[in-house]
Amino acid sequence: MVSLAVNFGLDLAEEIKALKRERNAVILAHNYQVPELQDIADYVGDSLGLSFQAAKTDAEVILFCGVHFMAETAKILNPTKKVILPDLDAGCSLSESCPPEKLEAFLQQHAGKNYYVIAYINCSAGVKALSDVICTSGNAEKIVRAAPADRNILFVPDQNLGAWVIERTGRKMDLWQGNCYVHIEFTARSIRAIHAQHPRAPVVAHPECSYAVRLLADEVCSTEKMITYCRESPAKEIIVVTEAGMLHRLKKDVPGKLFIPGPTERCACAECRFMKMNTLEKAHAALLNLQPEIILPEPLRQRAEAPILRMLELSR
Ligand code: 13P
Ligand code: SF4
Repeated sequence: MVSLAVNFGLDLAEEIKALKRERNAVILAHNYQVPELQDIADYVGDSLGLSFQAAKTDAEVILFCGVHFMAETAKILNPTKKVILPDLDAGCSLSESCPPEKLEAFLQQHAGKNYYVIAYINCSAGVKALSDVICTSGNAEKIVRAAPADRNILFVPDQNLGAWVIERTGRKMDLWQGNCYVHIEFTARSIRAIHAQHPRAPVVAHPECSYAVRLLADEVCSTEKMITYCRESPAKEIIVVTEAGMLHRLKKDVPGKLFIPGPTERCACAECRFMKMNTLEKAHAALLNLQPEIILPEPLRQRAEAPILRMLELSR
């Protein structure tokens, strides 16, 4: 569909703002979205912040500029609202690594372990429905510390985040062998090379990075906590080892500092192809047509909701 804004030569961002008012919509955007989408959003943040925002909004429509599991989480929390995603194909390699049928079969095979399942929010509604509690990178440590002491924990799907939480808490967990295809591209060699060029710059890395990369980091945290870390750090230059969209948010919120993207072996920075599927044009079309919409069968939604609500309760 051709956008009205393009037809009438109007500014697309202004057109989206007008449509948003007309639709009584709220725009939520993840920190990895392209700058133009971050700039029109009512709220930009990490998965935890976005979940809280989705849980409390009174808008009738949620335009979710992020990936599918994020919009799906918003729908799980808002069954009567319309949740739209600019591009329905915006997936996630972590979510793909753990299909619900595979997890269900694994749990059946290991029924004797009586697992307490902690699922990183980067998973489908089907996986959430099989889990006891959800976590994000912003609260994983807290959620694991709150797990029943007498239960075996299965942590899905990110092995790197899981390993990092084991280091932080000392709690033994069995880890699903999934990973983020973006964050495992950073290597100790690529981070050492950029650090050699900026020897005074501290390194802040996302916990989805490998152990070798996390070892080189001064701070390991969620994307939202990166804002706080960079604001509070006395350093004027900081190496940021995560998806490159983060730099726009950092430059806006923490002016006057130089943010250096962590390079990979192949590129000067790393981009998530799924996050980058959303564009201003697609966001405009989504608000205009009120689709693509996230639809979930009600019984599945209800089963997926309980572990998310448990997470929100434990995170307050
Ligand atoms: P955050 O919740 O830290 O923003 O992470 C989300 C994500 O997808 C990281 O790759
Ligand atoms: Fe998934 Fe990685 Fe993209 Fe985050 S950066 S949405 S974990 S593929």
